[in-house]
Amino acid sequence: MSADMRELKIEAARAALDQVVGGMRLGIGTGSTAEEFVRLLAERVAGGLSIIGVPTSERTATLCSELGVPLTTLEETPELDLTVDGADEIGPQLGLIKGGGGALLREKIVAAASKRMIVIADKSKIVEALGHFSLPIEVNAFGLGATMRAISKAADALGLDGPLDVRERGGEPFVTDGGHLIVDASFGRIPDPRALASALNAIPGVVEHGLFLDLADTAFVAGDGEVRTLRA
Ligand code: A5P
Repeated sequence: MSADMRELKIEAARAALDQVVGGMRLGIGTGSTAEEFVRLLAERVAGGLSIIGVPTSERTATLCSELGVPLTTLEETPELDLTVDGADEIGPQLGLIKGGGGALLREKIVAAASKRMIVIADKSKIVEALGHFSLPIEVNAFGLGATMRAISKAADALGLDGPLDVRERGGEPFVTDGGHLIVDASFGRIPDPRALASALNAIPGVVEHGLFLDLADTAFVAGDGEVRTLRA
């Protein structure tokens, strides 16, 4: 990542940090932009800010622990005030594609448990229509072939086509924090994300998918010397 790109992520993260006040229960996202937020948050915590966070991945939990950000769970703290997370794509009405880092299930559970979700990103994440970034779909390993076939059929019924790839890391299937697999669906432009989300939700082997619709209310997007505020 270039220094300029990192600076954009930091600027977006800083804008989100301005929304954090003492006593908040925070959902803490996953990915390189969310990690910049964690670093800034940790500085504020070291300076006396009192918050408690629920991490959206083991990776984020480790970073928070290393930097002294206090953590809780959704068992102890089932309702959160604010989740701050990155995104792979930000489309119309702040519809998102997430899951490039493989954390989409916990990210969606945490976002749904929050009163608000703020997305932080550099401007490269803004798209006119979702789908250029392959859609991550978290699936149960049992019945993988049947589930992939069902995904293809559901997509086909919506006029979507494209390869489905089981995500790998180091030549082995990538396994999520929840013990599932990820299928990356390269459908291209998704004209009706809601219809696709409903169709995927109806497939038993699909655990969750990376279409985040009606979850984010604000996005801070850094680029061209400013941080733009987008609202759903
Ligand atoms: C993690 O599973 C993803 O949803 C990330 O939030 C997303 O990939 C954004 O990551 P970056 O901030 O690294 O681009």
